[in-house]
Amino acid sequence: MKVIKIAPRGYCSGVIGALNIVQDAALNETLPRPIYVLGMIVHNEHITKAIDDLGVITVDDKSKTRDELLDQIDTGTVIFTAHGISPSVKQKAIDKGLTVIDASCKDVIKTHVLMKEHIDAGYDVIYIGKQGHPETEGALGVDPEHIHLISKANELEGLNLDNEKIIITNQTTMSLWDVYSLSQKIQEKFPQAQFIKEICNATQVRQEAVATQAIEADLTIVVGDPHSNNTARLSQISIERANTPSYRIASLEDLDLNWLKEVETVAVTAGASTPTPITKEVIDFLEAYDKNDPSTWNTTSHITSDKVLFKRK
Ligand code: F3S
Repeated sequence: MKVIKIAPRGYCSGVIGALNIVQDAALNETLPRPIYVLGMIVHNEHITKAIDDLGVITVDDKSKTRDELLDQIDTGTVIFTAHGISPSVKQKAIDKGLTVIDASCKDVIKTHVLMKEHIDAGYDVIYIGKQGHPETEGALGVDPEHIHLISKANELEGLNLDNEKIIITNQTTMSLWDVYSLSQKIQEKFPQAQFIKEICNATQVRQEAVATQAIEADLTIVVGDPHSNNTARLSQISIERANTPSYRIASLEDLDLNWLKEVETVAVTAGASTPTPITKEVIDFLEAYDKNDPSTWNTTSHITSDKVLFKRK
């Protein structure tokens, strides 16, 4: 099958940095044990399993906030994830006597600093983000009183701000086009609001690549974890911007061969937290796939946790 390998795709610098921090911590014998990660270090089950094999415990429950998860940790070291952390949760960990390591992505921290500086100068912030996502939780925690979350246009009805100084900004992994559209609607209600785009560069270039390169394909396969926001957006953009249907899979085993029945050309991309070997296995399968040759139809994945953490010199 003809495969368009969308580029760039996969790991971003923030994910690589966070994974390096966890691996370094696991090897650092001076750090107090146990070593915990507060939530999934990045949204990928294979990575969670791999760091578990290194002796690093992931404390995760999607129904709980980071603050609530921290209640489960009383000793040792806690690592905050690439999604960023609320200052109050960080302080709570310090007050508990835990050793704290912050693996927040520098692009997320940049948004926190931007919001803090504006609030200190008298602004309110309207934050476009996904309700319940850890990055949103961390961002709102910068100043819960002056940062106002908007996920959808209809939520604007309930937002009343009596301030001439307002900025609009956003979660780093939102769809570029959704954020532009929603910021315009916000500016219709608050014409004084200034929009400061905070889609991170890694997200933007991966989204633009799908919008332009998936046009030639009959189907786009996006490889990534079901909880990964940036992965979900890549699928959405294939459908909405490239007009190409799309499915998301966590690994080769999720690939349904019925999807390929009418397909001549398939595009493949991957979320920023998807380990490269998982995507490569999917690409290799599709390149070898022949709808008339059953010997090419086996979608068993051979990825094991020891294959997903990159080796460093
Ligand atoms: Fe950071 Fe963007 Fe990656 S916010 S973790 S560089 S997707």
